[in-house]
Amino acid sequence: MPEQSDVLWEWSVFWHSDQLQSCLPDTSASGDDSLQGRWRRFFEALPGGAEVLDLGTGNGGLATQAVAVSKTRAMPFSIHGVDLADIEPARFVASAKNLLTEVMFHARTSMEKLPFDDARFDAVASQYAIEYSNTHKSLPEALRVMKDGACFRFLVHADDGVLKERCRLQAAQADRILDSELFSATGGLLQRLVAAEANNTPQTLAAAEQAITAVKAVFDDLESHFEGDEDRSLVNNLFAAVRSLPGKRRTHGVDALIAMKDDIRRLLLAQSRRLKSMQNAALDDAAAAELVDRLRALGAQNVVLEAATTGHDAECVGYWLSGDKAAGSGASRYE
Ligand SMILES: C[S@@+](CC[C@H](N)C(=O)[O-])C[C@H]1O[C@@H](n2cnc3c(N)ncnc32)[C@H](O)[C@@H]1O
Repeated sequence: MPEQSDVLWEWSVFWHSDQLQSCLPDTSASGDDSLQGRWRRFFEALPGGAEVLDLGTGNGGLATQAVAVSKTRAMPFSIHGVDLADIEPARFVASAKNLLTEVMFHARTSMEKLPFDDARFDAVASQYAIEYSNTHKSLPEALRVMKDGACFRFLVHADDGVLKERCRLQAAQADRILDSELFSATGGLLQRLVAAEANNTPQTLAAAEQAITAVKAVFDDLESHFEGDEDRSLVNNLFAAVRSLPGKRRTHGVDALIAMKDDIRRLLLAQSRRLKSMQNAALDDAAAAELVDRLRALGAQNVVLEAATTGHDAECVGYWLSGDKAAGSGASRYE
């Protein structure tokens, strides 16, 4: 598992799992008006052999959409994905391995300082990522590595979007569980169950009974707290993982069980941090409009800011920011 002191530890932990992407809304469909449909049209507008860059690529969810379009071309795209986290998508996302091996991933690479020459790319894309960076540095970098006339499209979180609200609720749930006695009480239970089975004395059996009661009280307290929550996916998954631990004592020693319990807690802590970083990244109307002004000042043209919506109810899932790099806007203005 990545070290907690690593930069963007919370994202490295997340990407070391079998998940292709992080923030897509549940309601996202695949029709022409869906987020995927719009990305597909963006990539379809590129010529064969285009050089494409995905900023903050994560496990390559967006880059693989570029690969899918590239496969329809006689001359494939050359697709790069950068991320500051410790990513290794082809290793962790087995289901998309064939697509992921077509992407050149650059792990531990900051979008504020891209390792590419000026004017290299025909298209720069970013899905819920550029807004996590210092955009005073990453936007000039994005423009610097674009050829004259190259296009860009960024999907960014919106302050009043449904994703931010979901993150807020789940972060509060994660923090409530982290602040509770759940993990210490579960550790006590695992030790006492193993001791009771090994020794089978009245004292060890009574201690195990007490530990069962203590864990049940913590679960009951948390359950009552989360009772009215609309989204219980984080809570349910976490509770299931913790509840599965005692059953593993037939095959695992107590030290291994305690290590598993500590890993579940670390994952929850990473999740809490990730959910908070997602909330902090979200832009309001004024911040999104300011990005438009800055992009224009950097030499972007045809810049369009639109609400990103999805699903039957047209729920807000962010902003689309798109445009292209004006011909003749030389590299020096991006330095
Ligand atoms: C919400 S995730 C989106 C990942 C991916 N684009 C997707 O749609 O699944 C945001 C990503 O931005 C990355 N990130 C944040 N700040 C960054 C920076 N300054 N430079 C490069 N990547 C960064 C994080 O590590 C994370 O993988």
